[in-house]
Amino acid sequence: MSNTDTPFKDNLMAGKVCFLSGATSGINRQIAVRFAKQGATIYVVSRSLDKVNDTVAELEALGIKAAGKNVDVRSYPDVEEAINDCLEKFGQIDMVLAGQAGNFPAGAAQMSANAFKSVIDIDLLGTFNVCRAAVEHLNRTDGNIIAITAPQATRPWLYQSHVCAAKAGVNMLIKCLALEWGPSGIRVNAISPGPIADTEGMKRLAGTAEMLEQTTNSLALRELGTKDDIADAALWLCSPAARYVTGTIIEVEGGTSLGDASGALKL
Ligand code: NAP
Ligand code: COA
Repeated sequence: MSNTDTPFKDNLMAGKVCFLSGATSGINRQIAVRFAKQGATIYVVSRSLDKVNDTVAELEALGIKAAGKNVDVRSYPDVEEAINDCLEKFGQIDMVLAGQAGNFPAGAAQMSANAFKSVIDIDLLGTFNVCRAAVEHLNRTDGNIIAITAPQATRPWLYQSHVCAAKAGVNMLIKCLALEWGPSGIRVNAISPGPIADTEGMKRLAGTAEMLEQTTNSLALRELGTKDDIADAALWLCSPAARYVTGTIIEVEGGTSLGDASGALKL
């Protein structure tokens, strides 16, 4: 089976309303599409109205209900407005994905304080804002929050001090939220993707064929991941199979955090 075929039973997300931030391109948009194909109702937010409209059109074409709003997650009142709009349109929220991020390679000695702050605010404050604004309205028996983190959260990385600090914050944030909100029937987890082919993130961090090859050769699994690999992990976290899972970081990384496997010989 190729990983573009879902291994899950049909209509796993029927009756669920999902609020997804940063889901108008790349990995998170693929998660939205995957959830829609499983019958979910979808609300997406990101800064660009064009990207929101384009995503909503793709989702509606799959035959499900979808809507969205152009929102910068750094603004709490704007996130709150989008949550209220989602509730007005669809009446409930069962699942939240906090997926947005900002990234560019830059040395700590070369970037401005505002450059550092912009990534902290998009990744960490944005994740807090989305979770905080949604939680009062989240399903109290089957509520589910997923943040998207990165391997930079757990090991130092050249020219990524802003991203490492922001994503490390996201990892700890979701653990704290899981501890606080578990008794209210809400699970909180994060997915850490490895290098995923055909994404903005990879374009920014490994933009040449040579860098891509180097990255691929360093991985234990010796191949880049796909957006569907991450969408499947998200779907699993939403499924009854993950009902006892909270406060975890699910690494879908092809072995990134294990270290450099480029010297490993094939058996
Ligand atoms: P992407 O295509 O650039 O997606 C980023 C999304 O976030 C877009 O929808 C963007 O839309 C939105 N966004 C950015 N800033 C925002 C803001 N301030 N407010 C609201 N929305 C905002 O990136 P990707 O490469 O697929 O990465 C997606 C996630 O996976 C990120 O969390 C990233 O850290 C993580 N990740 C990616 C990789 C990889 O290999 N690509 C590896 C590890 C982790 P607008 O421009 O319209 O705002
Ligand atoms: N190197 C160093 N500094 C940079 C930079 C780079 N490549 N790109 C932006 N900055 C700095 C800017 O100069 C600015 O600092 P200053 O005010 O001191 O000049 C600061 O970062 C904010 O930039 P700005 O363009 O105003 O921010 P924004 O909020 O419009 O955009 C970014 C945020 C910079 C993260 C932008 O790259 C973005 O929108 N990214 C989203 C998509 C993405 O990164 N996807 C990959 C996810 S893995």
